[in-house]
Amino acid sequence: MRLPDYKEARTRDVRDYKTIQFKFDEKIKNKYLGKKYYLKTYGCQMNEHDSENIRALLENIGFSEIDDYEKADLILLNTCSIRENAHNKAFGMLGRIKHLKEMRPEVLVGLCGCMAQEASVVEEILTDYKFVNFVFGTHNLYDLPEIIDKAIETNKQQIEVLSREADMVEGLPVIRANKFKAYINIIYGCNKFCTYCIVPYTRGRERSRKKEDILKELEELVKDGYKEVTLLGQNVNAYGKDLYDDYNLANLLEDVAKTGIPRIRFTTSHPWDFTDDMIEVIAKYPNIMSSIHLPVQSGSSSILKKMGRRYTRESYLELFDKMKKIIPNVTISTDIIVGFPGETEEDFEETLSLVEYCKYDNAFTFIFSAREGTPACKLEDNTPLKEKEDRLQRLNEVVNKYFLENNKKLEGKVLSVLVEGVSEKKNMYYGYSETNKLINFSSDEEIEVGSIVPVHITNAKTWSLDGKIDR
Ligand code: SAH
Ligand code: SF4
Ligand code: F3S
Repeated sequence: MRLPDYKEARTRDVRDYKTIQFKFDEKIKNKYLGKKYYLKTYGCQMNEHDSENIRALLENIGFSEIDDYEKADLILLNTCSIRENAHNKAFGMLGRIKHLKEMRPEVLVGLCGCMAQEASVVEEILTDYKFVNFVFGTHNLYDLPEIIDKAIETNKQQIEVLSREADMVEGLPVIRANKFKAYINIIYGCNKFCTYCIVPYTRGRERSRKKEDILKELEELVKDGYKEVTLLGQNVNAYGKDLYDDYNLANLLEDVAKTGIPRIRFTTSHPWDFTDDMIEVIAKYPNIMSSIHLPVQSGSSSILKKMGRRYTRESYLELFDKMKKIIPNVTISTDIIVGFPGETEEDFEETLSLVEYCKYDNAFTFIFSAREGTPACKLEDNTPLKEKEDRLQRLNEVVNKYFLENNKKLEGKVLSVLVEGVSEKKNMYYGYSETNKLINFSSDEEIEVGSIVPVHITNAKTWSLDGKIDR
């Protein structure tokens, strides 16, 4: 049994780690042929991508996927700790599984992902959720086949969580959810320690993948006909810092652009280390999409300081203006937290005025959620929840107003759309523009899913655009 330890998770000393190649254990290949798994993924793209690896690991030992958990032989929850409601959702699901286990005790239940890295969650599982057969964390995902095999063979609960990052594993198998759009990890972990955030504890120290490994994975995707890649990291702008003296995200973006893949995205960018070189590379290459997710969190410099974000309202806006000036037709989206401990009405109004200035194309807005073990959790918080909910609503009204206003400007324009699917309505398709807007459009001629087509925009809504193919 290996249990997570927060104190250790917090440390950031640079340890030697090796890059090792993943190898399947041939002894258990197809051992569980005929068994069915149900996988539920919570949280961010990083978790979604981890689930793509998990699928491949499970299918190698013989499992196949079903979407009804009540019929599964194995139920696995890939969890998220970012806010309390993500945490509650996973425990709610465990409650339902408990009932199922009473009727079908042979069902195997596993929990992984960020919640598995939380000592308090694992303690709760040890005391109140004894029926959970195995737990493993974000640092040893590749151990999954062996952990399951051991849980089945010994019929004993397996808790295998590493508190800190281990070796970098390359060559993990993957079953991608989409045939045209793919995720590639470029950097793991986060060193920023924003005071509200649990991610540095659940995902460990920043570790960049070697550029050769990233480019090799990308070349495979290009060969397989992929049209879009999203480079993933909690803070992609830190790419390379731990590995190279003279190779960073700007260099990587340039090398990725040169492979000729039609669409390149990257997420998430921390404003603090967004360099001029990165802005220039994005502006230079048409296949690097000019839609940037640039979380601001708050418009008040005093709250930003308490959040440990390392930039001020003014320096954020300076960066924002620079992007708007240099990158043609750039769209910028953001994340905002309201009700951080000590946020006054004046602080909140500064957030509103910043949104009025930035007129974001998309924004994810949240009420602050206290996460155990983070510094912000200990701050005095006198704002009643009702007041925070009210602020969230006021903020959402403003962000929504600009979503619609920005979309209206696209009426009459022709946008290039990557076709994702056919809608239920006759002759209707949907897909995403270069700036990541959802577009529903008609075409009398049949269109291939996965192709990139020009669409004439006829009508703008808050969350999507309508159009027809431009032939
Ligand atoms: N690495 C990304 C953020 C990942 S988490 C970045 O730094 O931009 C996604 C978003 O969740 C954050 O941008 C933040 O807005 C929100 N978030 C993180 N911790 C939170 C908390 N404790 N309460 C509320 N929202 C939080
Ligand atoms: Fe969390 Fe901040 Fe790291 Fe983003 S940069 S993952 S918000 S600590
Ligand atoms: Fe959640 Fe972990 Fe992602 S906490 S947001 S799944 S990195």
